[in-house]
Amino acid sequence: MNHGSSDRIANELRRWIEEAPPGTRLPSTRSLVAQHGASPVTVQKALRSLAAQGLVESRPGAGTFVRPVRRARPHDYGWQTTALGAAASGIAAQRPPEQADSAPHASAASSALRSAPAEAVALHAGYPDRELLPERLVRAALVRASRGEAAVSRPPSAGLPELRAWFASELGTAVPSGLTPPAASDAVVLPGSQSGLSAVFRALAGTGGPVLIESPTYWGAILAAQQTGVRLIPIAGGPHGPDPEELDRALARTGARVLYAQPSFANPTGALWSTDLAERVLKIVRRHRAFLVEDDWARDFAVSAETSPLAARDDAGHVVYLRSLTKSVSPAVRVAGLIARGPARERIAAEAEAQSMYVSGVLQAAALDVVTQPGWRTHLGGVRRQLAERRDLLVGALREHVPSAHLALVPHGGLNLWLQLPEAVDLHRLIRDCEERGVLLAGGDAWFPQEPAGRFLRLNYAGPNPGAFPEAARVLGRALEDQLG
Ligand SMILES: Cc1ncc(COP(=O)(O)O)c(C=O)c1O
Repeated sequence: MNHGSSDRIANELRRWIEEAPPGTRLPSTRSLVAQHGASPVTVQKALRSLAAQGLVESRPGAGTFVRPVRRARPHDYGWQTTALGAAASGIAAQRPPEQADSAPHASAASSALRSAPAEAVALHAGYPDRELLPERLVRAALVRASRGEAAVSRPPSAGLPELRAWFASELGTAVPSGLTPPAASDAVVLPGSQSGLSAVFRALAGTGGPVLIESPTYWGAILAAQQTGVRLIPIAGGPHGPDPEELDRALARTGARVLYAQPSFANPTGALWSTDLAERVLKIVRRHRAFLVEDDWARDFAVSAETSPLAARDDAGHVVYLRSLTKSVSPAVRVAGLIARGPARERIAAEAEAQSMYVSGVLQAAALDVVTQPGWRTHLGGVRRQLAERRDLLVGALREHVPSAHLALVPHGGLNLWLQLPEAVDLHRLIRDCEERGVLLAGGDAWFPQEPAGRFLRLNYAGPNPGAFPEAARVLGRALEDQLG
């Protein structure tokens, strides 16, 4: 079917409709076919699109007619101001950027999730470009899932047993001998790990309860904490992870029993904990009889280092493990797995069930299908090579065109660079100036649970159009120079 010509016909008809009084009959399909030299199917497609926009209506047997224009009546929603009262902290954060320093996380969500115009260079978002997805596997898996039992049945609330077994076995392969690997019954399938974070915070800390969190850290985790009302206690993270002694002291001082961390390729810093740091943190967590929530969001995005989840070294229920497939399988197949043991698992599963009841069986079946195809491993190998090239391209371009910025770490995995800018920079102005020149950036403030420790940008090297990275870096460099002289 010719989309281009149906759009063209619809556009011409729209102009015609603007001039025509309501009730006017449109030319017949036959005369439109003749007039535009298009097929009846193409003309009908154009008419359907006009009908969907409310511009025309078709009366069977009589033809298609211009609909009366409905004048939009201005509404006054002022009454809601009193009814709603003051906004909760997360939503109040949707203020102008210059006022949003104290809690910018809800606005970070809308900013990171905003769509970019096709011509823009989108370094702001957290998702990989389509060329990095296993598109063929996903499409085939969705077709198979739609034909199977999953399309018409309700899955168990903890998830399809086969998918739970897959999540458990993925973690199990990293478990050293002598420790008990997780079982399928330890796993819970979630509609993305964002909802898992809320369920975990609610179940393990509860409203007002303290949660230690690295700073900077993923804004979505900060947002989930705000939404669930837990009290965040930041501890400094860095290009190599947190200081274990500081962590030890913070656990002792605050009585917190929950630590949220990303030991592998942290978002935003890219930090990868050493084996020694992982062992020390695990020991401290055990000594304090606490939980470590390990967000292994980038398991499928290792670039130049092999990693092993911390959760593989714990069979005593201290580590609650989250693994998302949203970014590696497809943002449309939003599925994550959580592994926990003991009563903690039961409480988290109950919270997850209360939040979303169950995850669509079609999505679960499709996700399982993709990750169990022989092509999945091959695909991940290709993604790894592409990410390495993209990362190096952006790093090289930044070094050349933005010399006043500082990159503390070239990450061995993940999707992002964490770029520090000179203190004197007005970050919001810089982002606005770059956006006007077609480069979308994410300001680092949203990754800090409290006041930002400096001026940062989080740059995603997995987005569309990597060929434009050098030009994007040039735009950034020039915008910086404009400010700093
Ligand atoms: C560290 C981290 N955790 C969790 C998530 C959210 O994963 P999901 O899309 O499965 O909710 C993200 C997404 O950006 C992330 O960066």
